[in-house]
Amino acid sequence: MTLPPTLAGRFAEILGDEYVEYKDALGSPPRPCLRVNTLKATVKEVRGLAGEAGLVLDPVPWCPTGFWIDECGHGLGDSVAHFQGLFYLEDAASLLPPEILNPSPESSVLDAAAAPGGKTTHISALMENSGAIVANEVDAHRTRVLRFNLSRMGVLNAAVTTHDMSVRPDVGRIFDKVLLDAPCSCEGRIGDDAEALALWKPSRVQRCSRLQERLIESCFGLLAPGGLLIYSTCTLSPEENEGVIDALLRKHGDADVEEISIIPPRHAVGVTEWRGTRYDDRMTRCVRLYPHHHGTQGFFVARILRCR
Ligand SMILES: C[S@@+](CC[C@H](N)C(=O)[O-])C[C@H]1O[C@@H](n2cnc3c(N)ncnc32)[C@H](O)[C@@H]1O
Repeated sequence: MTLPPTLAGRFAEILGDEYVEYKDALGSPPRPCLRVNTLKATVKEVRGLAGEAGLVLDPVPWCPTGFWIDECGHGLGDSVAHFQGLFYLEDAASLLPPEILNPSPESSVLDAAAAPGGKTTHISALMENSGAIVANEVDAHRTRVLRFNLSRMGVLNAAVTTHDMSVRPDVGRIFDKVLLDAPCSCEGRIGDDAEALALWKPSRVQRCSRLQERLIESCFGLLAPGGLLIYSTCTLSPEENEGVIDALLRKHGDADVEEISIIPPRHAVGVTEWRGTRYDDRMTRCVRLYPHHHGTQGFFVARILRCR
């Protein structure tokens, strides 16, 4: 696969020694993956169904309910079991943020940018359908898909809201845990998403980064003392990842970046310098996943604690 020179130049700088491996992996689509919906089925049951269809489930190391399905995995989206919500098809990298968020059945959780609902439904399963989730999504059409998926997966502990999260809602610091799976320039998906590649331009990265800074600011403002914010994107640009976290740290002395304990066996750490801008050293606690590490899309995740 050939990348436009501006993009190739940026990626070569970001990935350094790993760039050649990254470029070689770009031509292959991400490995299909499913997450067993424990609100409706057990791993054993879904393994049995997969076996009947001649599929072997290969465990994803960072999620006990996640499995790669390498052979003929694509047909699963049309199956009755999928329609019944026994599993959710998603990229294995997307399993990381809910696992790191690690909500309990008592948590109050905001999923700030929730549609189509892969991570909300995962969070709900981890909470065993208890506690409370606010699943927010600004786009009306995508909200319909979100509602459908919540219903299909049997989620009963989530309310859907349609707030523009770039403006902080006036509700106080009511959440123990917030997930911001931010809208981004989707660079991590350009290997198999022609639209992401066609839409890419430097100005888009800058626009996304300005929006992400506003979104994270709102989300941080809603956290109770001691609350946890997980920030994730499927993009590689430091402006949309470490740059956003660094800006938050500069504004808030009570924000800290924490080590992530659930880490894919192979990964890269966050960058501390990008084109003359120096970021906080704590960025090395963030995780970057590239397609050549585990056959996922490119991904970034950070774990931020609100200390007070
Ligand atoms: C990366 S997608 C979220 C994917 C979702 N978390 C999942 O796992 O299925 C980002 C979402 O943010 C939404 N979004 C964009 N701007 C927003 C805003 N200002 N407030 C709330 N949501 C926004 C987009 O419409 C999009 O659905």
